[in-house]
Amino acid sequence: MTRLLIRDLAQVVTPAAGAAPLRGADLRAVRVTEDAFVLCDGGRIEAVGRMSELSAGQMSELSSGRMSELSSGRTRELSAGRMRELSAERMSELSALGADVEEIDGRGLAAVPGLVDCHTHACFAGNRVNEFSLRAGGAGYEELHAAGGGILSTVRATRAAGLGALTDATSRHRGWMRAHGTTTFEAKSGYGLDHDTELAQLAAVRAAGGVPTWLGAHTVPPEFPDADTYLDFLLADVLPEAAQIAEAADVFLERGAFDAGQARRYLTACRDAGLVLRLHGDQFTESGAIPLAIELGARSVDHLEATGPDGVRALAGSDVVGVLLPTSALFLGRPLPPGRALVDAGAAVALATDFNPGSAFSESLPLACSLACTQMKLAPEEALSACTVNAAHVLGRAGRIGRVEPGYEADIVLLDAPDWRHLAYHLAGDVVHTVIEGGSVTWARGA
Ligand code: NIG
Ligand code: FE
Repeated sequence: MTRLLIRDLAQVVTPAAGAAPLRGADLRAVRVTEDAFVLCDGGRIEAVGRMSELSAGQMSELSSGRMSELSSGRTRELSAGRMRELSAERMSELSALGADVEEIDGRGLAAVPGLVDCHTHACFAGNRVNEFSLRAGGAGYEELHAAGGGILSTVRATRAAGLGALTDATSRHRGWMRAHGTTTFEAKSGYGLDHDTELAQLAAVRAAGGVPTWLGAHTVPPEFPDADTYLDFLLADVLPEAAQIAEAADVFLERGAFDAGQARRYLTACRDAGLVLRLHGDQFTESGAIPLAIELGARSVDHLEATGPDGVRALAGSDVVGVLLPTSALFLGRPLPPGRALVDAGAAVALATDFNPGSAFSESLPLACSLACTQMKLAPEEALSACTVNAAHVLGRAGRIGRVEPGYEADIVLLDAPDWRHLAYHLAGDVVHTVIEGGSVTWARGA
């Protein structure tokens, strides 16, 4: 497998505290290494350090193909100047030796962990641009849904698409996310609401490289008389197969969708089938999502635009992660979730896009970071931890992704700025320069 050396980076940045999920002061603690390198081998990060620590020994180990034995703890001293003198010459020597080492010039760039989008609805067909126009003219999101539009219009398009088209659409959306620095994404079903399309959605998410979540309980489709009858069908006919493909289950606990009793019944059955539990909660109303998430030991409760002080306190005292979706609040013109209050109270929070055709047609985690800082008053450090290590925890991958550290998967984003805080500072800007997944470049600006 190709080895990769990213050298002369202005900065390498990673969440500093060891645990996951991070909360309190740990959420804000990042390690910044200036004038730095990252060395990757076999799809993993082997070493991170200052250029001055990248040793002559390391360079010759590279050339003799022993890179896998390197680690940041085994570096020897070599001056930055000497390193620069050596590197151009050495690298051409290396390729002459067939050592298969790829080099990226990181001058002027900052490296952050590949971003993790832990909440999307990226598997869908069609679009809702007409609804967008209607909303611009004053129509309400819930009102359109109640009239059979909204989510149900995407259900009609998704049912008509078939597995091939759904896989193509999800892969296309994954490409959009990748161009904004997302290297791992979750995506939910919930636009099928029948046996075949729910399972096709989950299969399409997997085929497109995503982490599938079963959102059978998104809304009640028109062929069922009520929510309870629909849940009977879901749990008897879809759950057994959905649990084979999905990693988690999710429910939309909200007026006009499912109430707390129905959500409890659905999630309990899903937990018994081995799925991790998540909830869409407190998007428009506080309908008991936080107490239910805590009661059932859910991994996360997502949205929280309507969460009040009691909910903030309860969530902060629990292990449930609060997933903040500021692009969704912005897109619907809703109040932002109480992100600052949650962090101050000690809650573990993650940041995600909620990318979907109706309530958040945005695939950009950097934009979510900007909104987290400008609208919710999170520090850039908190925003970074929230969409890397904490999002990785939500997806059960905290030991593998979300940090630029030896042993982690070599998923790295190079930002087109010498200071990593441009991730949030550059509002809706072209901040991503290069995306590296598993030690290979998968996206580069202008390529
Ligand atoms: O997270 N609120 C429920 N579900 C999605 C939106 C789905 C849609 O509008 O298509 C959300 O906002
Ligand atoms: Fe959502």
